[in-house]
Amino acid sequence: MREPALSHGVLTDYNLGMPDSVFDAVLAAPRSALLFRDSVRQFGMPARPTIERDEGGIPYLINEFWTSGQRQAHSIHEVSYRACFKPQLPTFFIERLTFPGDVVHDPFMGRGTTPIQAALMGRRPVGNDVNPLSTLLTRPRLNPPALAEIALRLQRIDWNSGVIDDADLLAFYSPRTLRQICALRSWLLQRAPLDRVPDPVDDWIRMVALNRLTGHSPGFFSVYTLPPNQAVSARAQRKINERRGQNPPDRDVTKLILRKSASLLGSGGMPSHPRALLLTGRADDTPAIRDASVGLVVTSPPFLDVVQYAEDNWLRCWFAAINSGSVAIACHRTEAAWQEMVRQTLTELARVVRPGGHVAFEVGEVRGGRVLLERLVWEAAGGLPFDRLLVMVNRQSFTKTANCWGVSNNAKGTNTNRIVVLRRQMH
Ligand SMILES: C[S@@+](CC[C@H](N)C(=O)[O-])C[C@H]1O[C@@H](n2cnc3c(N)ncnc32)[C@H](O)[C@@H]1O
Repeated sequence: MREPALSHGVLTDYNLGMPDSVFDAVLAAPRSALLFRDSVRQFGMPARPTIERDEGGIPYLINEFWTSGQRQAHSIHEVSYRACFKPQLPTFFIERLTFPGDVVHDPFMGRGTTPIQAALMGRRPVGNDVNPLSTLLTRPRLNPPALAEIALRLQRIDWNSGVIDDADLLAFYSPRTLRQICALRSWLLQRAPLDRVPDPVDDWIRMVALNRLTGHSPGFFSVYTLPPNQAVSARAQRKINERRGQNPPDRDVTKLILRKSASLLGSGGMPSHPRALLLTGRADDTPAIRDASVGLVVTSPPFLDVVQYAEDNWLRCWFAAINSGSVAIACHRTEAAWQEMVRQTLTELARVVRPGGHVAFEVGEVRGGRVLLERLVWEAAGGLPFDRLLVMVNRQSFTKTANCWGVSNNAKGTNTNRIVVLRRQMH
C-alpha cells in the first residue's frame, strides 16, 4: 500500500483499501496522451462529431460536451455563486480521468462545484478559495443533515432577539424580517464562529441563509433585487425600490430556510465519500496539500477583472462576519499580470498533481472575445512539467459551421467554456 497522499489528520485514510494494481492502472492509463484526446475526439460520434482545429499551434476540440439539460445535476449544487460553472463540467473530467478514491481538487473553488461533484462521485474532495465564504458554502453540503434536524434546530432560535444595528439594510428587508436575520446572525456567530468547524446543522443553516439573503423572487428574505449572487449596495437598492414603487415585505425566515433545504436535498443526501479537505488561502500557496497527491484538478480562476467578487458578496460577508476588505481576491486588469497569477497557480499545481494526473483549467469569454484567455493559460503552462494536451471548447448552442472562438463567436452571442487540459509529466 502506498503512503497516504495528504499528510495531515483529516486525510490519513487516503487510498485506503485500494490495491496497488489500481494505482498502477491510474498512473499507467494517462501515459498515452492520445487516450484522453481520442475520447474527446470521439465524443458525440456520429450524431455530432467533434470539430478539430489547430489555431496558432494549439489543438482545439469543439463540441457540446455537456449542457445543462443533458444530465440533470444533483440538486445539492443549487447554490448560486457568481461565475460558477455547471456541475456537468467537473463531471465530464472526473468520469474520464479519475477512479473512486482519487483526490480531485479545485484551488479556486467558489461555491464548491468541483469538490461537491467529486464527493458525489466517490472521489476525495479537496478545495481552496481565498475567500472564507467558499468553505461556508461548500462544507455543509458535503455532510448535509436531515430535514427534520434542521427544522428542530430552527425552533430553538429566539427569533425576537434580533437587534438592528445597520439601518441601511432596511433597503432590502422589512424591520420584522431584518430582526429575524439579525437574531439568526448573532445565534450563528456565537455557536459557529469562523475559526471552528461547527456543528453540521448550524453549518447547514448558515449556508442556506447566506443563499436566501437577497434575490429576485419571494423565495428570498429581501424585497425584489438582483439575482442572489450579486448583492447591490444599499444605495442602489433604494433606487431600485423607488423605481419599482416597492417596499420590503415581511418574510418568514424559518419557512424559507426549510423550503430551500428541502429543495437542496431533493435528489437525496450526499453518498458516503472519502473525507474532504477545504482550505482558505491563495491558490498558489497550498502547503496543506501534499506533493504528488492529487489525481485531477478542475478549476476556473477569476477572469481578469471581469467579476467584482468582493462587492458581489458584501452582504454574504456581513452575515458571516467576514471582513471582505481583508480578502486578497485576484483581480487583474492587464493580461500580463493575470498570466503571471495563472503561472504561479500552475507552478503550485505541478507540485500537488501526481505524475500522470490532469489539470482542466476553465476560462470564459471576456472583453467581447478580444482576449483569448485559454491562449494565455496555454503559454503560462510552457516550461512547467505538464504536457499541454488540448483546449476543449464547449458550445452551448452548437452549430457545425460557426467559428468557435474569437470575435465572431461572441458576435453570435454564443456561450462557451474553454478548458485547457494539461497532464502532469512523469518526472
Ligand atoms: C470563477 S470563480 C470560481 C467558481 C467555481 N468554479 C464555482 O463553480 O463556484 C473564482 C474564485 O476564485 C476566488 N479567488 C480569487 N482570487 C483567488 C486567489 N488568489 N486564490 C484562491 N482563490 C481566489 C474567488 O473568491 C472566486 O470564488
